[in-house]
Amino acid sequence: MTTNRKVLMLPGDGIGPEVMHEVSRVIKWMNDNCGTAFDIQEGLCGGAAYDAHGTSLTNETLTEAMASDAILFGSVGGPKWDNVPREERPEAGLLRLRKEMDLFANLRPATVLDALADASTLKKEVVSGLDIMIVRELTAGVYFGEPRGTDTLPDGTRRGFDTEVYTQTEIERVARVSFELARKRSNKVHSVEKANVMESGVFWREVITALHAAEYSDVDLLHMYADNCAMQLVRNPKQFDVIVTNNLFGDVLSDCAAMLTGSLGMLPSASLGAPGPNGQRKALYEPVHGSAPDIAGQRLANPSAMVLSYAMMLRYSFDMCEEAELVEQAVQNVLASGLRTADIKQEKTAPVSTDVIGDALLSELSKLTG
Ligand code: IPM
Ligand code: MN
Repeated sequence: MTTNRKVLMLPGDGIGPEVMHEVSRVIKWMNDNCGTAFDIQEGLCGGAAYDAHGTSLTNETLTEAMASDAILFGSVGGPKWDNVPREERPEAGLLRLRKEMDLFANLRPATVLDALADASTLKKEVVSGLDIMIVRELTAGVYFGEPRGTDTLPDGTRRGFDTEVYTQTEIERVARVSFELARKRSNKVHSVEKANVMESGVFWREVITALHAAEYSDVDLLHMYADNCAMQLVRNPKQFDVIVTNNLFGDVLSDCAAMLTGSLGMLPSASLGAPGPNGQRKALYEPVHGSAPDIAGQRLANPSAMVLSYAMMLRYSFDMCEEAELVEQAVQNVLASGLRTADIKQEKTAPVSTDVIGDALLSELSKLTG
């Protein structure tokens, strides 16, 4: 077994384990038929880890994560853990993984597959052929800024506060990833902030502008306020190529962009760290959809985003572009065949279950390689 293909699977909570099960079958199929030779370990994160160990991420799992070549992550959270203290909430496990592994660049592509142009709530001509990449800063900003908390004012009323803070280094490194990506795409970057209101937004714009002038003047750079960006995403999303933005705006704008593609159930993501000595980046791949507790355990979930996250892993962590394309093609073919989970179902057809999509993916893979 090759030692540089160690993958840690963290299925998490809600629909996480269901969609992860389908990706496990795809990985096994690829190992058996395409020699991909992935060595898979499984671990607990989120509410599942809290129930077993009283913490949403154990130090042992973190150590395993650090030692892996890539992580496949499902989703965390659910009403079951609503009353758990914030430091131990399921989400805290994911945030700790991102922070400790320094996964600062979160790539969230929003592409509209031909078969799905009708599934969007927007008009077909507005979204067909859409291909944008949101690069969300993932380890800084208001998600981690100090001070944060609640306290009591002299008059006895209380207040809550968080801190939005960005260093030059934090902005530059995520901007670099964005400019480099744009060069391989349509060479255009929109940098998104609220420089009209926030000091950290003015600073963000300054740092990006200087870096662009010094190293990336061949790339088109545009600046946009976050509120306008939200509006432009639904008005005319095809004006965008790469969007780079902070942690909080990236969280919000990527959900918005996801819906352009028809369903949150279609969107994969990659969270990348800085390249290590061997050139490989630490990396975690996860669907953008959450744990969807409302449909968990009913085999209703769309496994596409999870499977496409695995395809991103093939491409970004292991440079296995052909294999990534094969998996992406299989997903497209399954959709084109008319099989749909409930989230993207068409008027006339009955939705199918998670495992029916999984079966169909395996048979498409066989056809494509046969
Ligand atoms: C996401 C999620 C997370 C976030 C939650 C689960 C902590 O919404 O990955 O977009 O807010 O970053
Ligand atoms: Mn989110």
